[in-house]
Amino acid sequence: MPDRTKIAILGSTGSVGVQALDLIAQFPDRFEVVALAAGSRLDLLADQVRRFRPRLATLAREDKLADLQEICGPLGIAAAAGEEGLSQVATHPEADRVLSAIVGAAGLKPTLAAIRGRKTVALANKETLVMAGQLMLSESQRSNALLLPVDSEHSALHQCLRGERREEVSRLILAASGGPFRLSSREEMEAAGPQEALNHPTWDMGPKISIDSATLMNKGLEIIEAHWLFGIESSRIQVLLHPQSLVHSMVEMRDGSVICQMGTADMRGPILYSLTYPDRWESPLPRLDLAAAPPLEFYEPDSLRFPCLGLALGALEAGGTATVALNAANEIAVAAFLAGRVRFFDIPRTIEKVLEKHAPVPADSLAVILQADEECRRWAEQILMKGVAA
Ligand SMILES: NC(=O)c1ccc[n+]([C@@H]2O[C@H](COP(=O)([O-])OP(=O)(O)OC[C@H]3O[C@@H](n4cnc5c(N)ncnc54)[C@H](OP(=O)(O)O)[C@@H]3O)[C@@H](O)[C@H]2O)c1
Repeated sequence: MPDRTKIAILGSTGSVGVQALDLIAQFPDRFEVVALAAGSRLDLLADQVRRFRPRLATLAREDKLADLQEICGPLGIAAAAGEEGLSQVATHPEADRVLSAIVGAAGLKPTLAAIRGRKTVALANKETLVMAGQLMLSESQRSNALLLPVDSEHSALHQCLRGERREEVSRLILAASGGPFRLSSREEMEAAGPQEALNHPTWDMGPKISIDSATLMNKGLEIIEAHWLFGIESSRIQVLLHPQSLVHSMVEMRDGSVICQMGTADMRGPILYSLTYPDRWESPLPRLDLAAAPPLEFYEPDSLRFPCLGLALGALEAGGTATVALNAANEIAVAAFLAGRVRFFDIPRTIEKVLEKHAPVPADSLAVILQADEECRRWAEQILMKGVAA
């Protein structure tokens, strides 16, 4: 049997992790799972361990380590927990590629560890680039680690840019579905609860990114992600709503030519690309039938109903730890919204207040980034406790 690509997954029990394992199972001769890391879902991790037989399985929840050891021990599989476990998965000596698919800031340290460990990193966790783009880039240059986007829009841009000279790029155009509130009034959005906001029309994703899609913060985070991945300033990154989600993003070249990447709205496409790049494999995924496709629409987002987009752009322009503040406040406000504690527009209101309070400093070390993250989370909690309008 030829050498198989050995994969470690951070966040194996999430939407991206589960879809990646679904794909990996379809290529048993070409992929091998060597390490899996989950947050708290022991039962699902146990199923994955029995099915894929990695060398190592870890859980963030240290109180469940004994249960995990009971499952892994008889199979000859190592078990670990907490930060140390995540780091072991990220740097597993046998792993060729690490899929970074933990949600939010919790993914930062292990993703950096994978980069420092010279792994090829398939990056779904966009929050890590939002918090620490400069640091991740300089570390990946230093260790020669390749960063490959998993986000469908950035995968599309990566594919459009293959073979193109960067100085010939005029702008990047990020496609956005518009989320569940694309056609809703501001009043309807303010009255919406978590269930309505989670009801994404085209993509089936984890809860945090689904709310980010409803506020369009997801697109704001993606502008920052694209800025770091492709070295293009924010004034040359445009967002266009495209409700059909068939064009995943576009690149306009300086001669006016626009290159786009299309495909069905299925995350397994970009996940597979990130795991096989620079090759493309014959894929079992459904094909796009253009003759049967609906008409393609594109239009500008409404900044009044979607203030998060402007907040993200403002933070990117402010520079340094401003994007750490943006991400921290967003994570806290989204969690509060999902718990039913606050209303929909309290999310941008909280972020705005935290950004006003935060004085950005250069985000050039992990210590500075983590300190800003911790402080801004605390402020966001305080603002929400007092009532955002206070
Ligand atoms: N879903 C998509 O289609 C999609 C598309 C593009 C980009 N992304 C990005 O990919 C990332 C993952 O999104 P998702 O939708 O897959 O999220 P998700 O379904 O909520 O899954 C999150 C994963 O992270 C794990 N996790 C959470 N907190 C953790 C912690 N403190 N330590 C270790 N692991 C932890 C969870 O473990 P447990 O479940 O075991 O607790 C789970 O495996 C996000 O950054 C998102 O923006 C997702």
